[in-house]
Amino acid sequence: MQTKKLETWYLQHHLKFAFRQTTDPYRIWVSEIMLQQTQLETVMPYYERFLSLYPDVVALSEAQDEALKKCVEGIGYYRRFMLMKKAAIMIVKDYHGIIPDTYDALLALPGIGLYTAGAMMSIAYHQPYGAVDGNVIRILSRQYNIQEDMRQEKHKHVIRKINQSLIEQANPPDYTQAMMDLGRTICKPKNPLCEQCPIAETCQAYELGIQQTLPFMSKLHSVKEIDYIVLVIFSKDGFVLRKRKASLLEGMYEYPQYESESIQHVINMLDDQGIIIDVIGKAVEMQHVFTHQRWHMHIYQCRLIGQKIDTDWQIYREDEINQLPMATAHRKIRRS
Ligand code: ADE
Repeated sequence: MQTKKLETWYLQHHLKFAFRQTTDPYRIWVSEIMLQQTQLETVMPYYERFLSLYPDVVALSEAQDEALKKCVEGIGYYRRFMLMKKAAIMIVKDYHGIIPDTYDALLALPGIGLYTAGAMMSIAYHQPYGAVDGNVIRILSRQYNIQEDMRQEKHKHVIRKINQSLIEQANPPDYTQAMMDLGRTICKPKNPLCEQCPIAETCQAYELGIQQTLPFMSKLHSVKEIDYIVLVIFSKDGFVLRKRKASLLEGMYEYPQYESESIQHVINMLDDQGIIIDVIGKAVEMQHVFTHQRWHMHIYQCRLIGQKIDTDWQIYREDEINQLPMATAHRKIRRS
């Protein structure tokens, strides 16, 4: 790919957005944070209002939380502005209010990740650090006919590498913003305007006629977050386990667990069933990720005091437990 053609196109066609009329890193930071998760047209009035209320890092660092939230009401993803305020406080404290101009120092600030650090370094400080967003992924996977799943970090990393080598041959602020504009106006997800594209000549996907199929993104599953209280109950004969009946991991053994965040709630519920346990250990937190579920396990060590009725609980010795099929989520509990 030839960055020259892209840059020439950018210089001729780019729109003069307000955030392109400034060299103030603070104003560029505000625009990048807003534009990351919100469409350009929506951002513009918020951008102006934000800057009139908080014109610099010091003003933002002194913002009242309620007023700050009010100022961005309706734009969504509010946490990003709370993180900006936190970063502003750090910039005042550690950098005399001047936004640092190194990649590593930017990355160390709250709310600044690889994309924002790259955008700041290239647009505000004219340094060759790439900012890979959805536009860059789309343009480069088409240019180089990369068919790998771009949901996977290792494949995004390949794009980051290519993008980095390209920005090193270019004028950084123009390159970064040209990629964003090209992605938005020409190299669109659907119906790209390849006839108007300044880099169509080198586009491998265009040559093969497969530009619309790239980038490949595997389907996103929705992941259900579930809190469990897990009871690791021991007696002199071993540990209490039960056999799972739920379709996920059916027939596997597990420590008794209950969908709840409150140990007291579980104790009361068991008490109602005639099972008395004594909680002796503090909660250990563990997570286990399945394709469609993420378990947040709050694990308590307990002793069995009394059991009046039959349950599906059984006590197993350590050597028996090692032989039983057990859900990995629970197997790792006492190995950790
Ligand atoms: N999207 C995010 N940052 C942008 C920028 N600087 N120019 C155009 N679009 C953007």
